[in-house]
Amino acid sequence: MMLDILKYPDKRLRERSAPVKPEEINSVAFQRLLDDMFATMYAAPGVGLAAVQVGVLQRFMVLDVGIPEGELIKRDPKVLINPEFVSKEGEVVWEEGCLSCPDLTVPVKRAQRVVVKGLDREGKPYELTGEDLLAVALQHEVDHMDGILILDKLSRLKQDLYKDKVKKGQVVVR
Ligand code: NI
Repeated sequence: MMLDILKYPDKRLRERSAPVKPEEINSVAFQRLLDDMFATMYAAPGVGLAAVQVGVLQRFMVLDVGIPEGELIKRDPKVLINPEFVSKEGEVVWEEGCLSCPDLTVPVKRAQRVVVKGLDREGKPYELTGEDLLAVALQHEVDHMDGILILDKLSRLKQDLYKDKVKKGQVVVR
């Protein structure tokens, strides 16, 4: 099932999400929600989706930055529940977009390499190491869990321009 993606200025996007209780993870409802989030993310299309973006104020994400295989990009779906950064290294500036901020790209400075720990979709702990796009996506999605949007990384002036555009209904929502 496709889910509606919350868009700025929806106030729920500014909330801090709560940890998932591990005993919830194996429930039919939670597993279905993960499948629906993947379907919604792939259709958008996007490389990551935090639960808050579909109105669920809990700390988990789906993501898939793909694995290049020759000329193709193979799917590489990942679920990360209750993520916590173990380390962050280096620096990279990426032109980021967000499914909750249509019509906006922002150059954001992030760590180039991160190690993050959390639970997989079976509730098993694991560690994930990401560089470049994967590192960026992980940091972007964890920001969502703390109510932070790429919009916040813009200068005041550019933030105001975007807010104004949204208010006037000039933002193109695909
Ligand atoms: Ni986003």
